[in-house]
Amino acid sequence: MRSTASAHPNIALVKYWGKRDERLILPHQSSLSVTLGPLSVTTTVEFDDRPGDDEVRINGQVAAGSERARVVELLGLVRKATKQKLGRARMVSVGDFPAAAGLASSAAAFAALAVAARTAAGLPRDTRAESILARRGSGSASRSVQGGFVRWNRGRRADGADSFGEQLFDAAHWPSLRLLVGMVSREEKEVKSRDGMRTTVETSPYYPAWAKDAEAEVARIVPFIRRRDLEAVGELAEKNAWRMHATAFAADPPLCYLKPETLAVIERCRELRKKGVGAWFTLDAGPNPVLLTSKADEAKVVKVLQQHGAREVVRCHPGGDVVVHPAER
Ligand code: PMV
Repeated sequence: MRSTASAHPNIALVKYWGKRDERLILPHQSSLSVTLGPLSVTTTVEFDDRPGDDEVRINGQVAAGSERARVVELLGLVRKATKQKLGRARMVSVGDFPAAAGLASSAAAFAALAVAARTAAGLPRDTRAESILARRGSGSASRSVQGGFVRWNRGRRADGADSFGEQLFDAAHWPSLRLLVGMVSREEKEVKSRDGMRTTVETSPYYPAWAKDAEAEVARIVPFIRRRDLEAVGELAEKNAWRMHATAFAADPPLCYLKPETLAVIERCRELRKKGVGAWFTLDAGPNPVLLTSKADEAKVVKVLQQHGAREVVRCHPGGDVVVHPAER
């Protein structure tokens, strides 16, 4: 009745931005990401046989409000999925990187929670079911159950049974790829993704164009990843990030996740390329750019990031699948 699982966050190369179903967390378009090793969130879930309130601890603090509610909802879904009679749960989650700074900590957290909770409840390992469950916590978490390059299929069904993450290439496919997170700010963002995307869907006149374009870009990027073409992947990822942010700028009220330092780093990226160093940026709903580069150029890119705005650089590479800790399997 107890299980511990660890999951990596992910960075989308073609972003998810906007839901067609708020309750089930179903997107308007497919998206595609790379799982980020070595960062991880480790979560333990233990079910009791007695009823009572679930206990939720995140990074050493007792969780409250909507943060707690999302975890409790997911635990409730696991109780429904098993024939076993499960009482209250104790959940403890610890991440090794800052939450809510534009890095998708919620993706790793809900992927680890989904797998730990299902395993603790005695359910068999099933990546599709785990991804669908993780999705109910946070959309991008559907892409963190598996490692490497994962596509979250939009799906067509109203119940969301066909909307899950699917691994296209594992982490070993492209070991020389580097994803460098330039930490220009550690502040919590003012508008969470969940609220930002709702405002965008409801008010941005560009939203329908975004959803159509992103769906097409998911199909276009797959052969680029297959042939490990950094330039083609980088160019497409940059363009897609600009388009997501442009859609958000056009919302009412407008949403701008960029800080002056973010733009400074983006500028440096262009200069690096002029000098023959392969570096491209992508940006989630936060100020910290993630630079795509190769192992060969990593040191040069890190140096430039440090010299121009980034207080810290978190070095990542394609990471693996969720791991269930052996002692508790
Ligand atoms: O899954 P959420 O609610 O954390 O939203 C993630 C949204 C982006 O990070 C901006 C894009 C993405 O696909 O991860």
